[in-house]
Amino acid sequence: MKNIRVGVVGAKFAADIHCDSYSRNDQAEVVALADIADASELMHKWNIPDYHKDYAEMFKRDDIDLISVCVPNFLHHDVAIAAADAGKHVVVEKPLATTVEDAREMVVVCEKNGVKLMYAEDWCFSPALRRAEEIIKEGGIGKVCFIKAKEVHNGTHSPYAKDKDMCGGGSFMHLGIHPIGWLLYLLGKGENPVVEVTGKMTGGLAENFVHAENGGEDFGMGMMRFKNGEFAFVEGNYITVGGMDDKVEIYGTEGVLKVDLTFGSPISCYSGPGISYSIEKTDHNLGWTRPAVDEFLNLGYVPELKYFVDCVLGKHDVFYGVNGQAAVACVELVKAFYESNQKRKTIYGEWL
Ligand SMILES: NC(=O)c1ccc[n+]([C@@H]2O[C@H](COP(=O)([O-])OP(=O)(O)OC[C@H]3O[C@@H](n4cnc5c(N)ncnc54)[C@H](O)[C@@H]3O)[C@@H](O)[C@H]2O)c1
Repeated sequence: MKNIRVGVVGAKFAADIHCDSYSRNDQAEVVALADIADASELMHKWNIPDYHKDYAEMFKRDDIDLISVCVPNFLHHDVAIAAADAGKHVVVEKPLATTVEDAREMVVVCEKNGVKLMYAEDWCFSPALRRAEEIIKEGGIGKVCFIKAKEVHNGTHSPYAKDKDMCGGGSFMHLGIHPIGWLLYLLGKGENPVVEVTGKMTGGLAENFVHAENGGEDFGMGMMRFKNGEFAFVEGNYITVGGMDDKVEIYGTEGVLKVDLTFGSPISCYSGPGISYSIEKTDHNLGWTRPAVDEFLNLGYVPELKYFVDCVLGKHDVFYGVNGQAAVACVELVKAFYESNQKRKTIYGEWL
């Protein structure tokens, strides 16, 4: 038996990523899945012994220490609060919640129960972005002036994420929140707040570029400025075909860093018959592709969940960027970008 026993709520896409990461961790094991739907696929894949249809039943177990919240966004609040009230530490997938009020309450309830709230912004653990951070820290590109960062693909696989209320927005909430969270971690550092935001989005449904079935926007972009003067430009859209495209450009006074998180594979492949998989959300795997070597490691999930398990073991405090404070600020920021888009003006404030 391993030291940390995990229950995962939700048993589909994100849950698969969490189970993979825990399976590589010698301190943790997933002992149960909870999902209102059938969970047998992941149970077999990851050799998980128990299933609960109702997550509340899982939280009654005293042999579970940590809960991974991998359900649709609108359920994060209720599931995390129920887990915290049952004395479990919680890892919550992004976004922390669909409203600022829910997000703030989650932090308060976790604190009240003395459990750790860990926000699963995997970009904060991506090995390539960590290497870029080291180069910045050693002064390799001078002082950072401007960062462009995006997560974009051809549309969410999850029916829940297509519903504006269940998602808390559209592509900007669902994807743009990754670069926003990472920028807060890298530049905000818990001391350098974002002070202005300007957002532009498509209008949802018939006002979308491509996805008229989505209640939320299928295209979102935003400009933000930090108190110390740095500018950033972030994108989260569902109009990008050809595979999930996560890219970062960092411009300093004495250098530039460019990071390609998803197409940066060391493998180039030409396949006549096609291959079964290359990268997330590709339309085709025929001809030339750049097959990912280990997506879950390179996007940061594996080191992320290792770090969170170590937090539960008491080895670390949860750092700014993946703690409750930063997770709340991410939701506040996305909402401020939406407000900017709606009012057609820049919104000023202090988000940290
Ligand atoms: N960090 C990342 O890069 C990343 C990637 C994908 C998804 N996510 C996040 O993970 C979460 C889940 O996304 P997904 O893509 O796995 O969604 P999904 O639609 O693929 O799966 C959601 C699962 O939750 C289950 N579910 C719904 N209501 C439930 C309830 N009341 N109790 C228990 N289970 C319930 C569904 O049956 C389904 O199996 C979302 O918040 C999403 O934003 C994060």
